Amino acid sequence: MSAAAAPKGTGTLTAPAGARHARIWGVGGYRPERVVPNSEIVDVIDSSDEWIQERSGIKSRRWAGPHETVVTMSVAAAREAVAAAGIRLDQVEAVIVSTVSHPYQTPAAAPIVADALGLRCVAFDISAACAGYCHGISLANDMVRGGSAGFVLVIGVEKLSDFTDPTDRSTAFIFADGAGAAVVGPSDTPGIGPTIWGSDGAQWETIKQNESWLEVRDQGLAFPSIGMQGQSVFRWAVWGMAPVAQRAIDAAGITASDLDAFLPHQANMRIIDAMVKQLKLPGDIPVARDIVETANTSAASIPLATERMLREGEIPHGGLALQIGFGAGLVYAAQVIVLP
Ligand code: UT7
Repeated sequence: MSAAAAPKGTGTLTAPAGARHARIWGVGGYRPERVVPNSEIVDVIDSSDEWIQERSGIKSRRWAGPHETVVTMSVAAAREAVAAAGIRLDQVEAVIVSTVSHPYQTPAAAPIVADALGLRCVAFDISAACAGYCHGISLANDMVRGGSAGFVLVIGVEKLSDFTDPTDRSTAFIFADGAGAAVVGPSDTPGIGPTIWGSDGAQWETIKQNESWLEVRDQGLAFPSIGMQGQSVFRWAVWGMAPVAQRAIDAAGITASDLDAFLPHQANMRIIDAMVKQLKLPGDIPVARDIVETANTSAASIPLATERMLREGEIPHGGLALQIGFGAGLVYAAQVIVLP
């Protein structure tokens, strides 16, 4: 019997060296051209403008046209975020795209987006549905601090209209399209607090593509749409997500009264209101209510709301914002950030 092989050398690896801290340098957004008011969809689902507004807060949404794809919307939002960050595109060293509506099983959207931006850097997609943007911010934070990238583009993008059944009463009025992006880069002071994140895969069937690709193929089914057990998800979001948001506030070492903005995922106005109440947020705190005109754009909803509120002067540059995403998986992620 031969002796076990010994290691060749005693050399120590060079460890990657990152920045001490990271922050969001800039955000950008892309809203598709076509505005779709409730009136345009109510007949098919036997609903009313009044019901939709009362139950969800939504008045209108944007649906992308054929020329507005996951890739083109990402590129537009990314260019805006890079410009807002005040860096050059070639300084971007990683592209993370969060989406559940890229129409190719493979490859990921991110390398195509990177190519369209003239980049050859690391580029990959993540699948964390409506929590994807907050997952991306957390990963980018760790990449910048861990030394695997200098500036990271995080993009949340959806063309959910491609995966929505226009006759489904529980989703047809909710899901919409758009893209939001952020540039995360090095910082002298902490700009992204600890992320509180997790999953509950036992509830995976509460929001999902109705049939798997294999079922579609083997049973000759029509193109699948995304379905949702609205009430179950609603209850989980209302009762489960406020404690997660509170833990993100605590982990950041601040209190709710220190916050300058609350930027929750835009799932339903009633969920947003319930969270504001449970977190006992100060009455005058600006709260993202982009859902009124944007509906639920999943991974894009938080950066889109952030971009709009910063642009309209509703929230202060340099202020503290609590953001929380939650959705299909079920998965969630929350963190306090310094607004760019
Ligand atoms: O982004 C990922 C996370 N997603 C979410 O967090 C979404 C969570 N869920 C929701 O936002 C809500 O569950 C919905 C907005 C989807 C639905 O609101 P709801 O208050 O939960 O409605 P429901 O399903 O409990 O239905 C209430 C009533 C029912 O009638 P009855 O049984 O009380 O007579 C439904 O048949 O409303 C009826 N209904 C509708 N009526 C008009 C259900 N959908 C519609 C509709 N228009 N579209």
